[in-house]
Amino acid sequence: MSEGKRLAAEKAIEYVEDGMIVGVGTGSTVAYFIDALARIRHRIEGAVSSSDQSTERLRGHGIEVFDLNATGPLALYVDGADECDPQRHLIKGGGAALTREKIIAEASAQFVCIIDPAKQVPVLGAFPLPIEVIPMARSLVARTILETTGGQPVWREGVTTDNGNWVLDIHGLSITDPVGLEAKLNQIPGVVSVGLFARRKADVVIVGTATPTVF
Ligand code: A5P
Repeated sequence: MSEGKRLAAEKAIEYVEDGMIVGVGTGSTVAYFIDALARIRHRIEGAVSSSDQSTERLRGHGIEVFDLNATGPLALYVDGADECDPQRHLIKGGGAALTREKIIAEASAQFVCIIDPAKQVPVLGAFPLPIEVIPMARSLVARTILETTGGQPVWREGVTTDNGNWVLDIHGLSITDPVGLEAKLNQIPGVVSVGLFARRKADVVIVGTATPTVF
């Protein structure tokens, strides 16, 4: 699948314009994008990064990393996903970077999502839905989700996010109303962010094949 990821990432370079500060996501697909961005680093001003992992890779290539508070709104955000439905709703957070990813997606005029073909699904939910929680609320959030959605929360033990929080993965969901579920889960006290990108979904999805599909 890494060839699919690389092909999608290479195609996304076409969305980068001279002088941009590019919003950059997290994950193995984005790693290919960062490597491709390095080839045109003299044309861009820099990047805003969604994780320590991406920051390290960007800086390793000599790409300047800016604080989002200093840049203001961005023109472009490029990130991967764990699942994508035909309406461009996404599940993200497999790499536990969902909160910063969501912040940068919200701050960006265009969100270009890069995926390999295996990430395309008719209905979201086979991939367990990640939810970042304040540590003391872990059990409360898990119980509430079990009672109100029927999904099975599993604590991603041993993982602490870049923000010092924990992650629950919700198994067994069939997400037919992504916008509604995202709003409902966001209401639970202790939830920092939900790995459903539905209210702010991708504007463009690039599927990495020999001739990439764009929708
Ligand atoms: C990181 O937290 C995620 O949202 C990633 O964007 C997602 O897990 C996709 O990762 P890969 O590109 O490694 O499949």
